[in-house]
Amino acid sequence: MAAFNPLEFRQHFPFFQSQPDWIYLDNAATTHKPQQVIAAELAFYQQANSNVHRGAHQLSQQATALYEDARETVKSFLNARYREEIIFTSGTTAAFNQLAFGLMHSLLKPGDRILISTLEHHANIVPWQLHCLTQGVILDVVPLDSQLMPDLEAYQALLALKPKVVSLTQVSNALGHILPLQQMLSAAKAAGAITIVDGAQGIAWQVPDLQQYPADFYCFSGHKLYGPTGIGVLYGKTALLEQLKPLLGGGEMISEVSFQQSSFAALPARLEAGTPNIAGAIGLATAIRFLRQFDAKLINQYKGKLLQQFADGLAAIPGLRSLTQVTQSAGILSLQLLNEHPNDLAVLLNEQKIAVRAGSHCAMPLFASLQLPGAVRFAFAPYNLPTEVEKTLEALQAATDILR
Ligand SMILES: Cc1ncc(COP(=O)(O)O)c(C=O)c1O
Repeated sequence: MAAFNPLEFRQHFPFFQSQPDWIYLDNAATTHKPQQVIAAELAFYQQANSNVHRGAHQLSQQATALYEDARETVKSFLNARYREEIIFTSGTTAAFNQLAFGLMHSLLKPGDRILISTLEHHANIVPWQLHCLTQGVILDVVPLDSQLMPDLEAYQALLALKPKVVSLTQVSNALGHILPLQQMLSAAKAAGAITIVDGAQGIAWQVPDLQQYPADFYCFSGHKLYGPTGIGVLYGKTALLEQLKPLLGGGEMISEVSFQQSSFAALPARLEAGTPNIAGAIGLATAIRFLRQFDAKLINQYKGKLLQQFADGLAAIPGLRSLTQVTQSAGILSLQLLNEHPNDLAVLLNEQKIAVRAGSHCAMPLFASLQLPGAVRFAFAPYNLPTEVEKTLEALQAATDILR
């Protein structure tokens, strides 16, 4: 594979031709879409639009083939063992809601414990809380160490309480920190837990080989991986997926229905009620095929370089404090301007057409534990350029001069 060329990569994204003035550093919220993805969705609607798994007609068969091909693409991307282990959802949030509902109504009993970390996104907190009180299940949280990583001693102590479920993010969306999941998940498995990974940020950093990875479930969203919004994946080991009570009931997911009772279809249909996001699944598979043309290691090295350039430049701007350990980060840096609300900085950057996110990043408990109102997050993607980093540093210098 040739050396990674960011300009060549960037050319695939029409956004940058139509909005050349913008510097887009909100990639942890969502990424832009390459032309191939946009074209694939358009082509489906223009040439093959039909519902899946229903019609006897050829168009429906074609739509079904495209949708099921997309499942195969995801399966091979993650190296899952079986296609039935890939459930299409509307995103990571939907996957977690299915998991929380499904586990709470099958394998978990009153008094059981679920273990998460302080770095979790609300999507890996709130769905559990929705059931904890009624089901009598206890949610434990691994605290952070001085590096703002999970405190591994405390983690071991919490594992000794024998949680039934350990659910951790691969990468913190708020700080960018990459969790030592190989070690943490292996310890959780050794303690007998079901393991869940929130891959919403991690999938763009390191795609797991799910036949080797100690995770029973893995979730991600297409839109953070250059795919469309409204499509995501819940991967699970077959034996566990089969035990999950479906969150959504309706068409497609049943085997027999009477007014007295219903029986459910086999996987994956069992957990995919209703008409799925067919164009989204096709778009996601196209994004995966697009990405596979590039060497992920080289992409990560390049993102690491941009991050380091940014961190070096920040050191020269007084008053800014990075919350992120750059060497532990998957291309994200979150910072604070002392005594200022993060929003003020983001507003000034927006005036210079620099898109960043400010606030608590759907990780309110994390910022509460840090006793901070939030942070300004800069999330780099491989289409970002060193010249954009320079301009962002200049804009930050100007913004901090105004605010101070
Ligand atoms: C770590 C993490 N988990 C979950 C989510 C939720 O993803 P979605 O909004 O696509 O469902 C996000 C989105 O920002 C995230 O960063």
